[in-house]
Amino acid sequence: MWEIKTLTPEQFALFERLIYRTTGIRMQSGKITLLSNRIRRRLRHHGLHSFEEYYTLLTAGSLKGELEEFIDAVTTNETYFFRTEGHFDWFRGEFLDEMASRVAAREHPRSLRLWSAACSSGEEVYTLAICLAEARGKLAGWQLKILGTDISGSSLEAARAARYEGRTLENVSPERLARHFQQSGDAWTVRPSVTKPCEFRTHNLLKPLGEKGFDAIFVRNVMIYFDRESKRTAVGHLIDALAPGGYLVVGPADGIYDLLGNLERKSSFLYRKPLSTTLAGGSLPSGGTH
Ligand SMILES: C[S@@+](CC[C@H](N)C(=O)[O-])C[C@H]1O[C@@H](n2cnc3c(N)ncnc32)[C@H](O)[C@@H]1O
Repeated sequence: MWEIKTLTPEQFALFERLIYRTTGIRMQSGKITLLSNRIRRRLRHHGLHSFEEYYTLLTAGSLKGELEEFIDAVTTNETYFFRTEGHFDWFRGEFLDEMASRVAAREHPRSLRLWSAACSSGEEVYTLAICLAEARGKLAGWQLKILGTDISGSSLEAARAARYEGRTLENVSPERLARHFQQSGDAWTVRPSVTKPCEFRTHNLLKPLGEKGFDAIFVRNVMIYFDRESKRTAVGHLIDALAPGGYLVVGPADGIYDLLGNLERKSSFLYRKPLSTTLAGGSLPSGGTH
């Protein structure tokens, strides 16, 4: 019988630095009990008896796939459908109307490229997909793509399965459930007509995606855990990935107002890249091409 207690401050510092290097997330020292509990589960899983032994094996890469399991165990993956509904009111209203006008004026191709960065188990991606399905009339003949990315492989597996139950569905009305989901027992699976434009990929926000031209990027409730340096890196990559005139949507506590570069602040959650990339300082031209 053995008992593993709580991390010492020195051990906490080692794991904290590893988490920061890998994800950009800063863990406050007040989280020592939480972190100890989460790591203890990984120790039990491997039949290990000390935090030091686990740290050594983890950083030496001796436990195959464990760094990802560790990051999974220590990050917060909470999400749900129609989280912060006002963002989706803007999306299906003003945003889609503006895109439709730009397409009608031949200022934009008949396509829409969206990115849900740090999408966890996929609810944000499918909420966007539901909004698009409900705007089908407006988007007839358009090429649609919604990319969902996260650092967590197990979250992305859940996202691809598109099967949900319980509290995550609380904001989905009975009409929407019936229209966009198939029920099996207590679980609801998003219908293929909704999932069709969606794809998922592993990605770390501290690295460039390697793909550009997104009309809107939702990056919500993740940078709240980043320090300023990680935010700066992530926001730089996100701005790069936006199309001219593209929008960045952030969570209520994500606080990027001092790292905007040439983005124009439209509201507390919404930022826009200038239509013309030659413009500095964030002011927008009255017209423009895509
Ligand atoms: C609280 S969830 C937010 C989910 C969704 N965006 C929402 O607002 O409901 C935070 C997600 O960020 C992911 N994450 C943390 N650090 C990351 C990083 N450096 N790169 C990509 N994803 C990261 C976690 O795995 C987790 O799934």
